[in-house]
Amino acid sequence: MAEQDFGEDMVHHAKDPAGLHLCAFSGDEIVGAVAAYMYEPGAPELADLGLPEVDGLSVQIGKRVESATHRGALLTEQLGTSMMLQVCESLRPDRLFLTLRGAHRGLAERYARRGFVRHADVSSGGEAVTVMTTEGRAAMEEFYITHRSLARRTPDNAPRIPVPSLVRFLAHGERDPLLARSLLEAENVYLEPMALEDELPRLRAQSRLMIAEQRPRLEATPFPSPPASLLDIGTGPGDHLAALAKEAPFSGYRVGGVEPSLQLLARARSAHPELAVRCGSAYATGEPDASHDVVTASFLFIHLRNPDLALLEIWRVLKPGGLLYVVDVNDGSFRGPGVIRRAVDAHAHHYPGDRTILTDLPRRAEEFGFALEHRFTTTVRNTGCSEPAVKEDEILLERHHAWGLLSFIRSQKVTEDMFRQAEKHYFRTECEISVDFETHVYRKPAPRHSR
Ligand SMILES: C[S@@+](CC[C@H](N)C(=O)[O-])C[C@H]1O[C@@H](n2cnc3c(N)ncnc32)[C@H](O)[C@@H]1O
Repeated sequence: MAEQDFGEDMVHHAKDPAGLHLCAFSGDEIVGAVAAYMYEPGAPELADLGLPEVDGLSVQIGKRVESATHRGALLTEQLGTSMMLQVCESLRPDRLFLTLRGAHRGLAERYARRGFVRHADVSSGGEAVTVMTTEGRAAMEEFYITHRSLARRTPDNAPRIPVPSLVRFLAHGERDPLLARSLLEAENVYLEPMALEDELPRLRAQSRLMIAEQRPRLEATPFPSPPASLLDIGTGPGDHLAALAKEAPFSGYRVGGVEPSLQLLARARSAHPELAVRCGSAYATGEPDASHDVVTASFLFIHLRNPDLALLEIWRVLKPGGLLYVVDVNDGSFRGPGVIRRAVDAHAHHYPGDRTILTDLPRRAEEFGFALEHRFTTTVRNTGCSEPAVKEDEILLERHHAWGLLSFIRSQKVTEDMFRQAEKHYFRTECEISVDFETHVYRKPAPRHSR
């Protein structure tokens, strides 16, 4: 570390025992490290750095060092991006800041490119310190989106480092209170940008199609025998859950759901009074520990900012041996002309959820202890006739109907224009498009002795 000219202050920090440290190992040796330190409002250290009060958490990105043997491997670049992303996702701070001691012009410029603004130059211990921050809801959101895109991209000539989940680390390390559950619960990234009246008919049509697509998947899944209990998360207007509850594998099941939107909850209750639907979110369902044999999530995971926190909650409410049954679209599989692909990608960049999460979900679920037992793929194509045709592993839709699959792009102001250009191209040409729906079945393994 000394060889790289890092002073003691960069390597040690007064809050080290309370900080978060993300390290890369080669064998037993730490070859790269990034740290973050948390400050509650009113912390004197913030005032010392000339930082004004903010209501919520301030997080300092405090340490970023790479051993000489691994210099050039972009280790801390990747660790830093991942740390900042996971901190934003799970702690939801109001402010991120860092301090640069001495003349670190190059570093200041690098952080400025990452969204940090030079806040003040102060003096600390007789040394000049530059304080850089990013703060406020809008700036933090932009920062989050930028770092998520950077994290998704593998840096040139560098191996991608698999970074463990901060949610899991905090929850298992008894630092659960740090997780910003209530802020995450208050957010519904699916509903916020759209008009419910446009979305409900689309959702109803999707439910009808999906139940036909799902029937063979449900039959192929070894659901526990009744009496058993099923919890659906993100039930929405309830049409899909009501149809699911009538399918053979769930005969004799107690079926219930949770939904955070009060508007959708009211619809589900009045249209399907037989369902026990409560207010609750994927991050905090309000259900007791180990209370369900099956948890279902249909078109939910793509709308979550923090899928890891949902996996933690699902693990908690599932009985040992229970199943998590996930159905969702994977936009990473989209195939079509460049102009449409670019609109899909632009939406993916700006959307706080993740419409490609199913690519990564098996790895993440495994980290929480789940075992992937089945993965089914159905390709939806725009080459069908007036009535949708549900075949084995394939759904054929009529061209106009298929275009409705991409209506989500219009829901964001920033991608509205791209959507219009894509639409023009789609209806002017005979182009083919397709995208995959996936079904994942995960098991929460039962401890050996209870099998
Ligand atoms: C695309 S809709 C799917 C509804 C239903 N599952 C279906 O398949 O028809 C997504 C649903 O997830 C809900 N949702 C969004 N964020 C959520 C969260 N954090 N926890 C639980 N549900 C959430 C939305 O309110 C909405 O009802």
